[in-house]
Amino acid sequence: MDDFTGRLTKDGIRIHQDADFAGMHRAGALAADILDRVAPLVVPGVTTGALDAQIEAWVNEAEATSATIGYRGYQHASCISINHVVCHGIPSEKKLKDGDIVNIDVTVIVDGWFGDTSRMFVAGNLPRKAERLIQVTHDALFKGIEAVKPGKTFGDIGYAIQSFVESKRMSVVRDFCGHGLGQVFHAPPNVLHYGRPGTGPVLEEGMFFTIEPMVNLGRPETKVLSDDWTAVTRDKSLSAQFEHSIGVTADGAEIFTLSPAGKFHPTWA
Ligand code: MF3
Ligand code: CO
Ligand code: CO
Repeated sequence: MDDFTGRLTKDGIRIHQDADFAGMHRAGALAADILDRVAPLVVPGVTTGALDAQIEAWVNEAEATSATIGYRGYQHASCISINHVVCHGIPSEKKLKDGDIVNIDVTVIVDGWFGDTSRMFVAGNLPRKAERLIQVTHDALFKGIEAVKPGKTFGDIGYAIQSFVESKRMSVVRDFCGHGLGQVFHAPPNVLHYGRPGTGPVLEEGMFFTIEPMVNLGRPETKVLSDDWTAVTRDKSLSAQFEHSIGVTADGAEIFTLSPAGKFHPTWA
């Protein structure tokens, strides 16, 4: 037994109640709003540490909590992953350069609910091959979300993403996955961004989880640097990622981390 609401499926996936969707919506909206506000600050010359400090200040101003500060020893309010960094880039004194593509990933806790989202930004001019990568990664996330419906499976989500990405001759990272969340940061199931139709746990109304595909222009393999966090592509190819936190509804998905300003896609300007 625990203090959380709802029941667990045989796969250990929590089924949340109707009222819980509102809690997730508030947390998700704050995380997304913070990414909206950071967008104009992502320019050549800014350090990723300065972006993170601003994000942390906004989390505090909202009287929310950063889920990442103190998580397994991590010390920052965001992960900022540049170019061939796949995920978990650590904010630092490193300055962005013209043409850098950057994923910023923020997770906040509002009234006990976790909102986890990331998206791509560009410092200065967007190189053509990076533009293609970002577009495919963004669309891959939405292929996954479109596959969400009670009665379908997690394998259906993975298949939708993988088949789309590979049709564009890019690759899906296998070493990191999405996750259940709600009143905890990381919960069952592992949400794989590859897979076969009809495999894996069956989706039920009330499941909350992230979908957060990482797509590489080159090969899918990654390695973690000696700082124990920064994951990079082994072949140094460019990598991109988008992440939404969603809930399964009676006939599809509710996206908790929609951009209030409609700026989720980086070419909104
Ligand atoms: N927000 C990341 C995710 O999508 C997790 C970051 S954990 C950290 O699951 F410690 F690296 F911040
Ligand atoms: Co996540
Ligand atoms: Co995240």
